[in-house]
Amino acid sequence: MQNIYILGIESSCDDTSASVIHDGKVLSNIVANQEVHSKYGGVVPELASRAHQQNIVPVVQQAIEQAKITKEQLSAIAFTRGPGLMGSLLVGTSFAKSLALGLQIPLIDVNHMQAHILAHFIKEDDSKIPPFPFICLTISGGHTQIVKITNHFEMEILGETIDDAVGEAYDKSAKILGLPYPGGPLVDKYAQLGNPKAFQFTKPKVGDLDFSFSGLKTQILYFLQKNVKENSNFIEENLHDICASIQYTIIEILIGKLKKAVTQTGIKHIAIAGGVSANSEIRKRLKIAEKHWNWTTYVPKFEYTTDNAAMIAITGYLKYLNEDYSDVSITAKARLKVTE
Ligand code: KG4
Ligand code: ZN
Repeated sequence: MQNIYILGIESSCDDTSASVIHDGKVLSNIVANQEVHSKYGGVVPELASRAHQQNIVPVVQQAIEQAKITKEQLSAIAFTRGPGLMGSLLVGTSFAKSLALGLQIPLIDVNHMQAHILAHFIKEDDSKIPPFPFICLTISGGHTQIVKITNHFEMEILGETIDDAVGEAYDKSAKILGLPYPGGPLVDKYAQLGNPKAFQFTKPKVGDLDFSFSGLKTQILYFLQKNVKENSNFIEENLHDICASIQYTIIEILIGKLKKAVTQTGIKHIAIAGGVSANSEIRKRLKIAEKHWNWTTYVPKFEYTTDNAAMIAITGYLKYLNEDYSDVSITAKARLKVTE
């Protein structure tokens, strides 16, 4: 099938995004971030839904304009069904339904977690597309999973977090350090200027391919409380070293589990996905793994790591090729496994 234009709409959390792809190639990918949450130290669901409602029409219009097409050329509308914040999901879901009905074209529901992984199938001139089966470490603000991908829509969770997601570990550590939300990118930035061995944090003991990050967060909190008591300028004086030590511990945990997954499955094609896959240290460590352990690694372009609609559109495109459409009675789902 050729000449397929898919409009993707993403509104699961605090980014309103729309993207048009043509036969798997991105023509536009507009993301409106919501600044409003930064001063609250986390996403405020009520404010997120309101901002989505404000942003969705201009964001979609911009995506269509930038793609240099008319809405009548669209073949289908793909939207994020879940997982995410219900109020946020409802805005994108309702908008997608109305537009698909108005244009009399198919509606396609997309699982946000599958979309993070399937972003690897966006066609770019220099893209390296993973062969099946491959392993994907999905690391975001809401999830931490090791997934085995046998086919586009055949996935198996090999391990996942039993408490906090890795993005949460970053954001909560940042919050304790007095950094604004989302703190992950800032911790990463400061970490690159510090000594990763300056402070030691213990890694959690959790079974097999599962993860746990809540203990690390508490450890960091107690460590900072104790040191700030002795020196009120401790954080300012050691910010780079603290960030580097936190980052080192987190990435050691992730790489350790990936190594275990490779041993267990024998699969050496390793992808990363989700917001935390923008992290500089995990990218560096994967390059080293290519050299030393003979892995082939797949790292998404920066714009397809954090939440974006291009990943929704490519997933919609793959479903469109299978004629896997949704009924207009479909509802958003706040909880949705990657395998659903
Ligand atoms: O995938 P995403 O945009 O949203 C969810 O679906 O959760 O991921 C957002 C998460 C946030 O926790 C943010 O702090 C984290 O990704 N993040 C990073 C970096 N860039 C974004 N964490 C560490 N290093 C980064 N460079
Ligand atoms: Zn996400």
